[in-house]
Amino acid sequence: MSFTVLGTGSYAPPRVVTNDELSTFLDTSDEWISQRVGVRQRHVCTTETAADLAVEAARRALENSHTLPEELDLILAATVSGEDVSPNIACMVQHHLGATCPAYDINAACSAFLYLMETAAGYFARKRVKKVLLVGAERMSRILDWEDRSTCVIFGDGAGAAVLGEGDNYLASKLYTRGGDDVIKIPQFIGKSPFFQGQQLSPYVHMKGQETFRFAVNAMCGDVKELLDQTGIHGEDIAWVVPHQANVRIIESAKRKLPIPEDRFFVNIDRYGNTSAASIPMALDELNRAGKLRRGDNLVLCAFGGGLASAACILRW
Ligand code: UT7
Repeated sequence: MSFTVLGTGSYAPPRVVTNDELSTFLDTSDEWISQRVGVRQRHVCTTETAADLAVEAARRALENSHTLPEELDLILAATVSGEDVSPNIACMVQHHLGATCPAYDINAACSAFLYLMETAAGYFARKRVKKVLLVGAERMSRILDWEDRSTCVIFGDGAGAAVLGEGDNYLASKLYTRGGDDVIKIPQFIGKSPFFQGQQLSPYVHMKGQETFRFAVNAMCGDVKELLDQTGIHGEDIAWVVPHQANVRIIESAKRKLPIPEDRFFVNIDRYGNTSAASIPMALDELNRAGKLRRGDNLVLCAFGGGLASAACILRW
């Protein structure tokens, strides 16, 4: 026993920032950002917190799956940009929904939504749960250095959620970690201990872009090929690949290397930017609400990022 996805939801704050608007205070251009990253605009919080976004996406997923908060047996959430270390986002979602089940966060940066799925699969296998809510939510705009054009143009804010129920549709999965902080690092406030002698690194996203890019393409292609081999599912039998939306060139590169028809790769980075842990559930929700997913479709979900970590899974819709 694993699970089946019963419904999805997503939410992005209403304030939209275009590349042209960024060009008014940064040495950048719509041409550079669209061509090198594939982002044309992103949504940015003005008053909302990451937890607010999470609650709205969760509400929409409950509605879409016809699930009541009291039916939930577990809430798992993920963020790298939550305002509070405690309570975590999952606890705030539980509180605002009026649910009573256990709730906790898992940190695996941009790959986190797939780590949530893997964790949930364990609960279903042990028959400990009947309905689980997963949420990825980010206010990336909080942890960006808005003077660093090599990072701040890439990311955006948003949240995505899914409700899982009992079933056998989680067909295969892979998690991978190559731990280290030399490629991507997001430091917290170092604190004010009079005893600690470490240095404060600015509490923003620090990323070596090209190294991350190489890791991303290798991880995405390696993970997905491994799962196709393991399941014996042919590329033509994949209805959609839902990749982490980090850079459209990463997705283009994976298209050339994977034996899956090119028109099956879903892209929405142009409208949302890279929303880290929210990226995959937001994309899934967009496909779902557009009526592009049919029961029985095979979906590949794949992600990569801070950790460094990557993950992939094959789901039957
Ligand atoms: O979600 C977590 C996972 N993250 C990723 O997967 C991100 C992976 N990496 C990337 O997407 C790309 O490496 C970036 C988008 C971050 C950077 O693109 P790039 O093609 O690797 O650019 P680069 O860092 O090699 O920089 C090329 C040039 C540099 O100028 P010079 O030194 O050649 O004169 C940069 O200063 O582009 C310049 N540049 C910009 N120019 C205009 C960097 N950012 C900008 C900008 N606007 N926003």
